[in-house]
Amino acid sequence: MKKFGIVGAGLMGTDIAHLAAENGFSVILYDIDELQLKKAYSTITDRLNRYVGFGRIEQSAVAEITGNIKLHTNIEDLNNADIVLECVPEELGKKQDVFRALDRVCPGGVILATNTSSISVTAIASVTKRPDSVIGLHFLNPVRAMKLVEIVCGMATTRETFESAREIVKIFKKIPVESKDYPGFLLNRILMPMINEAIYALYEGAGTVEGIDRVMKLGINIPMGPLELADMIGLDVCLAVTEHLYNGFGDSKYRPCPLLKNYVAAGYLGRKSGRGFYHHN
Ligand SMILES: NC(=O)c1ccc[n+]([C@@H]2O[C@H](COP(=O)([O-])OP(=O)(O)OC[C@H]3O[C@@H](n4cnc5c(N)ncnc54)[C@H](O)[C@@H]3O)[C@@H](O)[C@H]2O)c1
Repeated sequence: MKKFGIVGAGLMGTDIAHLAAENGFSVILYDIDELQLKKAYSTITDRLNRYVGFGRIEQSAVAEITGNIKLHTNIEDLNNADIVLECVPEELGKKQDVFRALDRVCPGGVILATNTSSISVTAIASVTKRPDSVIGLHFLNPVRAMKLVEIVCGMATTRETFESAREIVKIFKKIPVESKDYPGFLLNRILMPMINEAIYALYEGAGTVEGIDRVMKLGINIPMGPLELADMIGLDVCLAVTEHLYNGFGDSKYRPCPLLKNYVAAGYLGRKSGRGFYHHN
């Protein structure tokens, strides 16, 4: 059985661990925070038990899938993974530290992937001795529902690495689309300015939270309004990505709204903290 390593058991790491485990991979889920690992495991188990209740899966599948996931707090345990996907917070320094460590721990040739939403894959790869085997695999939230995985090659990524990564995306029953390694790639370069503009509209009193979301949902036929979506993504992630666009392109059109900064400073991060533009139970 192929071994899929994941660094970071937060929102994305948890759901990608679930996806990999149900698609037959043996998952090595690593986090520096043991509590996060336990939370990830119980999130996956609770979700699977709900599926049993709905009749979507057999009871036996719960043990089968969760049995494919092993929790680790020692990065050395990733040394026998066939591929590792990093899912730590959206900060270049943090990601580079992880890649330096992975480069030391994992044998040469093992693909080191990043789930970054916006940071240069080339910059992340540059701290390793194998930039040819480093690639961006941008899974979307919620992982189960979203079909797209943006694949981003850095300057040195080989076609061989790209093809291997694309095969894995297909095994996960997702649709791979290649984007160039520029800030925000394609998806967030287009999505985040829309979210940021919706926050500016709120900040300037041009509309209410509900009004802004309703206009966009009904106006362009999307299932969630931009503020609702920002709450789901996490306002800290939205701010980090918008800052990468702003700094990466050096263009004032991407400047993050001060209201977004205030929400993040207050700890109002959206669904994950219970409060963002909406209140969440
Ligand atoms: N949230 C989204 O909607 C979304 C969507 C697509 C991509 N992403 C990207 O996925 C990545 C992770 O985002 P998230 O929302 O899951 O973050 P999160 O804050 O929910 O989780 C991050 C996890 O990383 C762990 N961590 C931090 N430093 C670590 C280290 N050095 N080693 C091991 N673990 C470490 C934390 O303990 C935490 O469990 C980011 O790059 C983000 O841009 C997020």
